Amino acid sequence: MASKIILLPGDGIGPEIIAPTLELLDAVGTSFDYEEHRFGGASIDAHGTALTDETLAACQAADAVLLAAVGGPKWDTTDPAKPRPEQGLLGLRKGLGLYANLRPVRPLPALYDASPLKREVIEGTDLLVVRELTGGIYFGEKTRTRDSASDVCAYNREEIERIARVAFRAARRKVTSVDKANVIETSRLWREVVRELHAAEFPQVTLEHILVDNAAMQLVSNPSDFDVIVTENMFGDILSDEAATLTGSIGMLPSASLGEPGKPGLFEPVHGSAPDIAGAGIANPLAMFLSAALMLRHGLGLEAEAAAIESAVDRALAQGLRTRDLGGDANTRAATQAVLSNL
Ligand code: NAD
Ligand code: IPM
Ligand code: MN
Repeated sequence: MASKIILLPGDGIGPEIIAPTLELLDAVGTSFDYEEHRFGGASIDAHGTALTDETLAACQAADAVLLAAVGGPKWDTTDPAKPRPEQGLLGLRKGLGLYANLRPVRPLPALYDASPLKREVIEGTDLLVVRELTGGIYFGEKTRTRDSASDVCAYNREEIERIARVAFRAARRKVTSVDKANVIETSRLWREVVRELHAAEFPQVTLEHILVDNAAMQLVSNPSDFDVIVTENMFGDILSDEAATLTGSIGMLPSASLGEPGKPGLFEPVHGSAPDIAGAGIANPLAMFLSAALMLRHGLGLEAEAAAIESAVDRALAQGLRTRDLGGDANTRAATQAVLSNL
């Protein structure tokens, strides 16, 4: 039986980048049972909530979930009583138990000069951000009155151990654990737990701990020094967008969000719904294509097909494909054709 894939195009450029991704998946010879659901702002408009119980249940019963992006000015509000598209994403991550977010940052030599950073700085960089995705300040208790507000940042030992295990298993050279242990209590626990797990289960892997402000600086001054970065939810969010500049554009970074083995994963680009360019047909679809490749590899065990998509993307870029965010003038259609012709 064909694998069941839930498609969540979402908002903004979402539908524009998910449609060509299906062409690519067909062209690589995979055939899936697709089921599309409204999600994010589109779901708020139709159902009053960013994630319906029905959509969550469909995702839980699927083999994998492929998501483009959610959000947009139409649903921007600071009123805590109003629904927001992003709540759908958080509800889905929590509802699927997706605690491990993998964000590979592999700048391609063809794009070294598309980055605002110097080629010499980027050269040799191949790192993985392992972001904890279902804990921390995103999910702690929130309060709000007219004049005050609070967000609790909480972690427990088990949550830290399981994400650190993912990082140690992925490491080739070393693990850099990023925290703010000089100030924040959850970071002090984080550092202790990572240190203890390292000693008990992964003594052969090199481990270093660095503070998040220093990490932000090293990421753009000495990125090739990193192998695997493991960090809590919000630090990982911020550092991964920063790391995107190494690849030339946020439009290049894919991600895989995984939970317990055997449960469906969620695959989505790191970027958002890009409201400023939505509808113009000029979005870079490559992060979405590469997210589909991560779905084939991590979600469905189709390594050869995943590698075929990745190398078609590499070759199209080596031949000169550049969307606007990379300093060129290719639109979404032209980028899709360039990749398809290299499959
Ligand atoms: P964004 O990533 O949507 O856009 C930031 C900048 O990058 C914009 O200039 C945009 O045009 C550009 N960009 C992003 N993706 C691109 C692509 N594929 N091709 C070309 N250019 C691209 O971030 P933002 O503007 O801060 O957020 C917009 C909305 O998206 C917000 O509502 C936010 O909450 C949401 N968001 C959603 C996700 C998600 O669904 N996973 C992730 C991040 C932000
Ligand atoms: C991301 C996004 C989300 C996050 C938002 C849209 C909730 O920025 O996937 O990086 O902060 O996790
Ligand atoms: Mn983000």
